[in-house]
Amino acid sequence: MKDPSGDVILEMEGIVKTYDTLVANDQIDLHLRHGEILAVIGENGAGKTTLMKVLYGLEQADSGTIRLRGEPVQIRNTGQAIDRGIGMVQQHFMLFDPFTVAENIVYGKEPRKGLFFDLDQANKLISEISRSYELPLNPTDKIQGMPVGLRQRVEILKVLYQNTEIIIFDEPTAVLTPQEVHELLKTLKKLAADGKSIIIVTHKLNEVMEVADRVMVMRAGKLVAEMAVSDTTIEELSFLMVGRHLVETEIPAMNAAEKVLAVQNLKLLSEEGALSLDDVSLHVRAGEIVGIAGVSGNGQSELAQALFGLKHATSGQILVNGQDVFNQSVKTIRNAGVAMIPEDRYLWGSATQATLSETAIMGHYANPSYSKHGMLNIRNINSFAQRIIREFNVKADSIRQKTSSLSGGNAQKLIVAREIVQGTPLLLACEPTRGIDVGAINFIHDQLIDKRSKGAAILLISSDLSEILKLSDRIYVIYEGKINSEFQRGNVTEEELGLMMAGGKHENQLV
Ligand SMILES: Nc1ncnc2c1ncn2[C@@H]1O[C@H](COP(=O)(O)OP(=O)(O)OP(=O)(O)O)[C@@H](O)[C@H]1O
Ligand SMILES: [Mg+2]
Repeated sequence: MKDPSGDVILEMEGIVKTYDTLVANDQIDLHLRHGEILAVIGENGAGKTTLMKVLYGLEQADSGTIRLRGEPVQIRNTGQAIDRGIGMVQQHFMLFDPFTVAENIVYGKEPRKGLFFDLDQANKLISEISRSYELPLNPTDKIQGMPVGLRQRVEILKVLYQNTEIIIFDEPTAVLTPQEVHELLKTLKKLAADGKSIIIVTHKLNEVMEVADRVMVMRAGKLVAEMAVSDTTIEELSFLMVGRHLVETEIPAMNAAEKVLAVQNLKLLSEEGALSLDDVSLHVRAGEIVGIAGVSGNGQSELAQALFGLKHATSGQILVNGQDVFNQSVKTIRNAGVAMIPEDRYLWGSATQATLSETAIMGHYANPSYSKHGMLNIRNINSFAQRIIREFNVKADSIRQKTSSLSGGNAQKLIVAREIVQGTPLLLACEPTRGIDVGAINFIHDQLIDKRSKGAAILLISSDLSEILKLSDRIYVIYEGKINSEFQRGNVTEEELGLMMAGGKHENQLV
């Protein structure tokens, strides 16, 4: 805990931000001290991102004041935020793929020699920053093909290059592997020790406990609590966020029945000619949740895409209830009884300009209750959208609003709901609770368990090991494109799984 009387560098007071009738921020006060890490937590739609956008100049508050080192300031755009020493590492990275690390970092603030961009100077500056913050990166590497963790590192270096004193991170760990999370948290501590002041928005309460000095809890647009992290616990924070104690559902025993999904010797070559999937054989039975555990980048994304017809496999067999769907179209695969929660909700699951009604049936237009002879049945579509919004507690004003106006977690909930309620015999659930608050995670887990109880087969691909361990009847570990082990529920610990995910061997495994 930092000295509570330390220099307050930033004060936000009485911030109000409304969208039409919705009060996203209702009289929020935020204080940030020099060299401290402040965590901002709260349910999906509580107003965390909105508050950060106001601070970074991406949104204008309706009222309230912002003071930097005691001086009132106006922040009308991100340029002004950066000039005043406020930087933000956004969740959806804003990098240009064809350019190098250095070109991306200096973009907008290029070192010049006379009239010309001084590339050598840029490379040199970046190497220096990269060394002093222990964030290794090669300035001349291209962004294209970089793993998420490295892209984020580029974003962090960009903020440091801009010489900002206050750095905002909005859910920085949602897309990282456990190793990358560990590295990032170390970096945050180092930045704070070097005198940067940091705000981190996160749903992971263990991260709050690990790195933050203070925590602010928001609920429905209001600030409901603020305390030193050393004075609270994960249980208390979780209670403050969702307003009730969470109860873990018991998972009833089930007798798994016939194989709904059967995959044999699946091979998939990447565009670069490497084997992304190497002889993968697996199955999922009716009434069974089967988890795929693995460090991201070991073939699980390719597996999900091949199963759903989004990527062509090289050889092998995929049967869904006995029907051959190997390299079939998404439509054929959906018709065979498969639903999918996509890993990246922005890439596959939705279009930001679509309304909530449109997103609610995306991929399901052909369903006869939504369209017949090319005519959309708007009434059915709208009532379906309304139903899933209500049942899954998606925080929204109207089914006519754009999907982009939902908070990140609420957009995810809408897509998860759409695919869960499809009543298909097989659900491919990829990262179903990414970006979702602790209360809603519980709810989605209950829905998955319920679907299994009704006899559906669920393939769960998740980088969250506690989620895999809680839900899965069986677990396969994928490593370098191969299934390297298989476990029954209760037969493996988190540590052992971690070992297998790094390519180890284990005695309890089934294969
Ligand atoms: N551009 C917009 N137009 C209309 N409503 C919006 C807009 N942006 C945000 N909102 C609404 O403001 C509320 C707060 O959203 P915000 O993104 O700040 O939530 P959050 O706390 O970051 O949630 P999450 O954990 O899901 O990311 C939500 O109800 C959201 O639907
Ligand atoms: Mg958010």
